[in-house]
Amino acid sequence: MTAPSTRRETATKKSLFIKTYGCQMNVYDSDRMAELLAPSGYETVATADGADMIILNTCHIREKATEKVFSELGRMRVLKDEALDNGRHVLIAVAGCVAQAEGQEILDRAPYVDMVFGPQTYHRLPEMVAKASNGERSKRRGARLIDTDFPVESKFDHLPQETTAATSVFLTIQEGCDKFCSFCVVPYTRGAEVSRPATAILDEALRLVRGGAMEITLLGQNVNAYHGDGPDGREWSLGRLIRALAEIDGLERIRYTTSHPRDMDDDLIAAHGEVPQLMPFLHLPVQSGSDRILEAMNRKHDVATYLKLIDRLRAARPDLALSSDFIVGHPGESDADFAETLNLVSRVGFAQAYSFKYSPRPGTPAAAHEQLPEAVRSERLQSLQQLLGAQQRAFNVASIGQTQEVLVERAGQRPGQLLGRGPYMQSVHFEGPDRLFGTIAKVHITEGLGNSLAGRIITAEDASSTTQASYIREEVTR
Ligand code: 5AD
Ligand code: SF4
Repeated sequence: MTAPSTRRETATKKSLFIKTYGCQMNVYDSDRMAELLAPSGYETVATADGADMIILNTCHIREKATEKVFSELGRMRVLKDEALDNGRHVLIAVAGCVAQAEGQEILDRAPYVDMVFGPQTYHRLPEMVAKASNGERSKRRGARLIDTDFPVESKFDHLPQETTAATSVFLTIQEGCDKFCSFCVVPYTRGAEVSRPATAILDEALRLVRGGAMEITLLGQNVNAYHGDGPDGREWSLGRLIRALAEIDGLERIRYTTSHPRDMDDDLIAAHGEVPQLMPFLHLPVQSGSDRILEAMNRKHDVATYLKLIDRLRAARPDLALSSDFIVGHPGESDADFAETLNLVSRVGFAQAYSFKYSPRPGTPAAAHEQLPEAVRSERLQSLQQLLGAQQRAFNVASIGQTQEVLVERAGQRPGQLLGRGPYMQSVHFEGPDRLFGTIAKVHITEGLGNSLAGRIITAEDASSTTQASYIREEVTR
């Protein structure tokens, strides 16, 4: 048994509630925070009520992030005060990108917050908690700690050696971004682009697979810009890393997100056709279908390049399902620019997508420009979402009659119902026994809904795999 788990047995039991906002990278970070605090006796709980420590792991990417955090902190303060009246100290921490960007403001406006730390320093959490707890003992408000460094030592060097993993897990391989899109806070809150060494990633993947994971989603703000040190002394690209991960016995599925069109290199595209574990789904944000706006966004690619990339990806993997992010109402976007976005959507055909109204983020270049009226942004968002919704439904309906391999992750809402994911990232529910959790089941798809599929489990002999290559372009082009 390792040293940390021995300490876990002797430490006083305490409860930890983590509320996670935003992207999957925050989910990954929250899981690591929980692992780091486990040796100090903290066990995660599902609600803030009665918790000894509360961490808000925040996101700064879109609208009103800071205000949402302050209003949640107001609720946490009530819990802290009630606990204090009963002689119990509750520690409150704010982590993540809002902490990074607004650390001092949080301490000024919310004096009951004990700790504020950014995405790069949570490995110092046990130390911070110890300091904050000591402070709590001596005075009502305790020691107040802020740590928003971009330290030289890496948080990744502080991961535990053993783990029990879920069936499908995240693994951060790259962080930060050097692209500086006009609208985006990430380069400021997450810092410059950094890739983890390949060996550390392979070790962590092995640990996760041994702990029960069958699917790993590789994470990074610019994941396909990955360029970590390889064990052979060379720099590894994402394609190279994926091929090495595919050698791990028991790792059935590999995914990665989020990619930038500029960083899709030949080897990565080829990997989509050559590595069976690499799932046929790619989230590749385009943001806009207008070259003028892409230029204003500083996206460093144009529409033609994006479309060509999609063609090359589909040539490598004909059934590849695509997802994207879109922003409507970026400063300067005209009706004609927006029409070009709709046009791009019609030409590509997306299996799913996220779309947002542009929201000015303080300190980013686009925030300084004249803003479009709210009504224009709302109207454009609505029509884009209508088109994307129709494509998603068409994609799901086109799945009817297929046999999909579904990674069974958890119970569905109804008794006896199981929920899992198909290769194309669709949620699939079907009736089946609990023993199927953590397995890949063959499911005959009988229903295609707005956001999910329904099906019935079939025997392996009946299964013949079908794909849904060019469905949308034929059925939902306008
Ligand atoms: N306004 C609206 N959407 C944004 N995104 C990032 N910054 C903004 C902003 N200021 C969206 C982009 C990005 C996704 C994660 O969030 O589409 O790809
Ligand atoms: Fe933000 Fe992505 Fe642009 Fe980087 S590439 S600045 S993370 S939108």
